[in-house]
Amino acid sequence: MRIAVFSAKNYDRQSLDKANRAYLKELVYFEAKLDANTALLAEGFDAVCVFVHDRLDSRVLKLLLKGKTRSIALRCAGYNNVDLKTAKALGFQVVRVPAYSPHAVAEHALGLLLDLNRHIHRSYFRVREGNFALEGLLGFDLFGKTVGIIGTGRIGLVMTRILKGFGCEVLAHDPIPDPECEKAGGRYVPLDGLFQGSDIISLHCPLTPQTHHLINGAAIARMKEGVTLINTSRGAILDTVAVIQGLKDGRIGNLGLDVYEEEDNLFFEDLSNTIIQDDVFSRLLTFPNVLITAHQGFFTQEALKSIADVTLANLDDLEKGRRCPNSVEDH
Ligand code: NAI
Repeated sequence: MRIAVFSAKNYDRQSLDKANRAYLKELVYFEAKLDANTALLAEGFDAVCVFVHDRLDSRVLKLLLKGKTRSIALRCAGYNNVDLKTAKALGFQVVRVPAYSPHAVAEHALGLLLDLNRHIHRSYFRVREGNFALEGLLGFDLFGKTVGIIGTGRIGLVMTRILKGFGCEVLAHDPIPDPECEKAGGRYVPLDGLFQGSDIISLHCPLTPQTHHLINGAAIARMKEGVTLINTSRGAILDTVAVIQGLKDGRIGNLGLDVYEEEDNLFFEDLSNTIIQDDVFSRLLTFPNVLITAHQGFFTQEALKSIADVTLANLDDLEKGRRCPNSVEDH
């Protein structure tokens, strides 16, 4: 099986090559993102292997089909970047890695929270410059705080368990409540109750038409004054312009982001010698109470190994005509 691997970084090559020792597929790596301009690179390949910023819209899918590609292996859990309706109509098989390490993302979300509530990113720079003053660094205990978890799937459940360990109350919201989450101490409430009752809100739902801009101006207006918001899911679940207004008003007390709605043009690249053209993103960077990481929630040794192993196993299932347990079923 010949596989065109798009958006390939060195760490992808290393983990995929290692996993491929057990499968011996022909992997060809392209640094480019898959889009309408690069789809021709996949001509003649049986499968493309893609990540979160590759765009598989109907135009790209038609180009892939023309080039005889029939399979799409996502190296991630989310599949909001694939036009699944068109993929189904054109007969593509789409597989993904539904769970590589929920701990990686939940622990990163917690890292953002622990940094923000004690201003550690600011202390780091102060101490290096010989400024040992504490003014402006007053934090709050996590113990006893109420945390709202939106989306109690794999990552949300791990986050619930971690937060219960800190002595937090956990309010949960999910259209499909999970008894495991309740067993862990989460209490399901309607979204409005979660907005009104939470000191901290962490997003762990997928990006869908229903969750697009779930956190908008109206939602922020219903939240507690000074709420801490953490988003490690997908950028467009937050309406960034509304969030900036919330930060300016003081309604949002802290913001931790690992994702951003226009991140495709920024994240995973070294742009330190260029002028950032995205004024909304640049505005976010000016707030002392905003901490942004560039989509690194998944980036642990354990998760990379698991992504590579599952991706190769998925592709092997497709090649051998076996039913793949990680098919994106609902397309
Ligand atoms: P999952 O599929 O196990 O759980 C998602 C949960 O969200 C499900 O329980 C689902 O019922 C719920 N949900 C769906 N619509 C909802 C809504 N409108 N309101 C509230 N809940 C809703 O997914 P998992 O593995 O926990 O991942 C969650 C998200 O985290 C992914 O969709 C992805 O966007 C993001 N992610 C981010 C990574 C990063 O590196 N920052 C890495 C991996 C995932």
